[in-house]
Amino acid sequence: MDKPVYFTDYGAAYCGDSLLLLEQLEDNSIDLVVTSPPFALLRKKEYGNENQEDYVEWLGQFATKVFPKLKDTGSFVVDLGGAYQKGKPIRSLYNFKVLLYFCDNVGFKLAEEFYWFNPSKLPSPIEWVNKRKIRAKDSVNTVWWFSKTDNPKADIRKVLTPYSDRMKKLIENPDKFYTPKKRPSGHDISSSFGNDNGGAIPSNLLQISNSESNSRYLALCKKFGIKAHPARFPHKLPEFFIKMLTDEGDLVVDIFGGSCTTGEVCDNLKRKWKCFELDRNYLAASAFRFIPKDLDDNSIKNIYDKISAGSVIEQKFSSISDIDIVEDIPPIENNLFKAEDF
Ligand SMILES: C[S@@+](CC[C@H](N)C(=O)[O-])C[C@H]1O[C@@H](n2cnc3c(N)ncnc32)[C@H](O)[C@@H]1O
Repeated sequence: MDKPVYFTDYGAAYCGDSLLLLEQLEDNSIDLVVTSPPFALLRKKEYGNENQEDYVEWLGQFATKVFPKLKDTGSFVVDLGGAYQKGKPIRSLYNFKVLLYFCDNVGFKLAEEFYWFNPSKLPSPIEWVNKRKIRAKDSVNTVWWFSKTDNPKADIRKVLTPYSDRMKKLIENPDKFYTPKKRPSGHDISSSFGNDNGGAIPSNLLQISNSESNSRYLALCKKFGIKAHPARFPHKLPEFFIKMLTDEGDLVVDIFGGSCTTGEVCDNLKRKWKCFELDRNYLAASAFRFIPKDLDDNSIKNIYDKISAGSVIEQKFSSISDIDIVEDIPPIENNLFKAEDF
């Protein structure tokens, strides 16, 4: 496989087109691909968007490459923001077309549809929401959880949410709050409803604010005057699926890596990971997530500059401690690939 731009104890970041990088992976080797592609927005984002019409087929190519690389127990989680049709207050159906294409043309199953509700999302599009006031604020992304087979690896007990206060009281004293009975719906709610299972089963509506402001990644971007990636995942989004759908040591891949949030979450959760990203500068800044905390500012900036200029970091990040080692990194052409592990 191509040489990673940098690597950590658990994973590695690669610069390139994920259509080509995916081909280099072994078949049936990935437990989870979790990703947020460039959306089919009307306003061109700085990192490039395909037109809405071409978008489904464009993204379909990636799905076709992902499919054979997943284990039979593997999952493919795709976060897609909604969009309006050009100049009209009616919605594009592209995210639903993506869903149908992946299932009808590629062979994926829809394990479950999730909705990511971001309460801190700003109102848009301005024309329909703010000016004419004829549409509500769009603050929900569709997150399709695809699987290769009917039975992907999954355990909802790994992502239980805190009990409500009422439920906590019920667990403390079930008899006081609750008489087991058959509901009008026919559901037989037995007294086991009051068992303490360590938390409540989450719903497929994930409420996660995307308002991260105090991360090391952002702090270092600011310090060195580098523009942070404009469309980052909040950590909690990939974290939910990585916890639910994989175990420690499993392999997680993000094929549209951006600032490599997925990699950082995987490092924290002890999952192996690979991030693929086309834009070298995004990848260079993503290194801020992994650089040892005791490294001085010059060394950190040095690593960023080397990666931006086309070098790869041959040393595992956790073992980088001396600026001299970093200074000696040869340019990419002179490197023979060694890190076969990645
Ligand atoms: C929505 S962003 C992902 C952000 C990421 N989830 C994060 O938390 O930072 C999509 C990324 O896909 C990258 N991209 C677009 N086409 C690509 C391709 N063919 N191969 C690899 N990356 C690509 C873009 O450069 C962009 O950074």
